[in-house]
Amino acid sequence: MNAKEKTVALLLTSLILVGTSIAQADEQSAIAAVESYEGQVLGIAKDVEGVRILIPAKTFEGRMLADEDLKVLSEIPKIVELDLKNAGIGDAGLAHLAGLTDLQRLHLEKTKVTDAGLQHLKGLSSLVYLNLYGTEVTDAGLEHLKPLKQLKNLYLWQTKVSEEAAKAFQAAMEVAGNESLEINLGWEKELLSKARLAALKEQRLALEASEAEGTTEVTLVEDPDFKTHIMPIFAERCVDCHGEEKQKAKLRLDSYEAVMKGTPDGPVVIAGDLIGSHLFQVITLPPGDDDLMPPKGDPLTEIQVGLIRNWINKGAKPEAEVVVVTTEKPSENKESGVFHEYVLPILMDRCADCHGEDKQKAKLRLDSLAATLKGAGDEAIVVPGKPEESSLYTRIVLPADHDDRMPPKGDVLTKAQTDLIKLWIASGAE
Ligand code: HEC
Ligand code: HEC
Repeated sequence: MNAKEKTVALLLTSLILVGTSIAQADEQSAIAAVESYEGQVLGIAKDVEGVRILIPAKTFEGRMLADEDLKVLSEIPKIVELDLKNAGIGDAGLAHLAGLTDLQRLHLEKTKVTDAGLQHLKGLSSLVYLNLYGTEVTDAGLEHLKPLKQLKNLYLWQTKVSEEAAKAFQAAMEVAGNESLEINLGWEKELLSKARLAALKEQRLALEASEAEGTTEVTLVEDPDFKTHIMPIFAERCVDCHGEEKQKAKLRLDSYEAVMKGTPDGPVVIAGDLIGSHLFQVITLPPGDDDLMPPKGDPLTEIQVGLIRNWINKGAKPEAEVVVVTTEKPSENKESGVFHEYVLPILMDRCADCHGEDKQKAKLRLDSLAATLKGAGDEAIVVPGKPEESSLYTRIVLPADHDDRMPPKGDVLTKAQTDLIKLWIASGAE
């Protein structure tokens, strides 16, 4: 090799070296970018290739994650799981996922994704798990998911997808050879696969057998409280790993305060909000799911899950409370029914400060059935059967920053709460 050839060879090798270090630099800077959003890039296990990426809704600067932020993901090889729940991303963000063909699990719950965005997922042939809880996806969006032959778990709770369309989709997938697809349309509305149905039947028979022996006496209570109903479940099934000795995921479940505090990443139980309550999600995952809690032993029984569901839905109360109802007519104290059990506690908690004994803003009291039906001065605020015409309802569903929104201060009522009030009015306001 003469001097000139040597220089060329040297140049070539250094070019190749530069080339590879650019590739690695891209991957590293992509990972650094994800971490700068406060995302985590985690390995799977020793000897298992691939990474899981968890990105929280807000970046460390407090700004919502945006579609463009996802562009860097294409630089990271072998992403098998991507968790974007609650992130501010939408259809344009999904376009950046189209090349992630190793992806097996994708969390998109409570994002702005719609039908149009789902077309970008067509090529994700390894996808097993897709969570679209609380998105605007409709029946039409399911068309785009038909090429996903490996899909086993599809979550459509609180989307616009109808039960009929979901059933038709499951049937079409079955015809195309996918017999293990399960679709979750909400608690008690699950389209289970054949295999799962058989397993559940077995579980139920076992439960019935043990009930017949008189070993279990637990019943599903409508309005459970933490101390009486929930703590015993956690003590038996969770505190081994989430208690004094071990705090897996930095979570303790051995006291009411600890449960409500959640993990350093945030709460796992949000009163009145099942979807927002991560704890509820992880106990209702299908058997075999990596994230199912408890991770070992039998899953929680249907009754235990039902108790936890009711407890969260009814406000995640610490202890059974003695509701002191201040009413004009003492006879009402004895009354039960939807208003007294569900509506009045909300009004007492969120409205009676300004519409109660001490203050009567707009000449309105909301601390008893009679006062609520009487309305503001002479004006009715409840039109039985017609929530849309009842200002009691229309004013609690306004956006947080609307001048007429009730309560005017503090958090807006949760959807569960406004739904209860709507239901009460729609069913005759009695
Ligand atoms: C055998 C140990 C074990 C038991 C028993 C157990 N867990 Fe866990 N739990 C874990 C581990 C490990 C993690 C972290 C898993 C991860 O990050 O992927 C975890 C994570 C969680 C999380 C997620 C926290 C987060 O990061 O958001 C919740 C919620 C949870 N567990 C609830 C429960 C509940 C409820 C029970 C009882 C029904 C339970 N766990 C029983 C080991 C356990
Ligand atoms: C911080 C005080 C405050 C709280 C808390 C509050 N309100 Fe009000 N409310 C007012 C005031 C002031 C008015 C009169 C001004 C207006 O109409 O916006 C009013 C008016 C109303 C009206 C209209 C009455 C009419 O004239 O037709 C309704 C209905 C109402 N409130 C319902 C509620 C409900 C339901 C809650 C609880 C979810 C609630 N308010 C909580 C202060 C409050």
